[in-house]
Amino acid sequence: ATERTLSIIKPDAVAKNAIGDIIARFEKAGLQVVAAKMMHLSEEKAGGFYAEHKERPFFKDLVGFMTSGPVVVQVLEGEGAIAKNRELMGATNPKEAAPGTIRADFAETIDANAVHGSDSPESAEREISYFFGNDEICPR
Ligand code: CMP
Repeated sequence: ATERTLSIIKPDAVAKNAIGDIIARFEKAGLQVVAAKMMHLSEEKAGGFYAEHKERPFFKDLVGFMTSGPVVVQVLEGEGAIAKNRELMGATNPKEAAPGTIRADFAETIDANAVHGSDSPESAEREISYFFGNDEICPR
């Protein structure tokens, strides 16, 4: 089925000038960008986004990293978009990511791992509405 998923190009990948390379991978895989914006997240916005990780030992570093520079937030649409995006990204830890995946090619550490993608239909819905109003999504 056609799905939507939230993708974030993280500060490390933006700093490497890899925005275009990463979006090209989504497009070449048949996903369409139906919403996009660049933003520098506040601590509150980043902390709210990762609220489910609040009690995890890496939460403080995660929020620190995600607020360290601008990110590009997008909604990707396509057949099986959630799983397809996760396949393109590779494992959370770049050291475990399969060759040819975004994290294998653009990231070095689990904190600075280039991209985020929704992990389920429920989180996709929550994450998309966390960043975008309905009037900011442009299906084609
Ligand atoms: P992301 O998909 O954005 O979701 C939470 C992020 O926390 C994850 O990518 C990693 O960048 C970061 N993180 C840091 N340490 C860990 C860990 N031990 N397990 C999972 N995620 C971690």
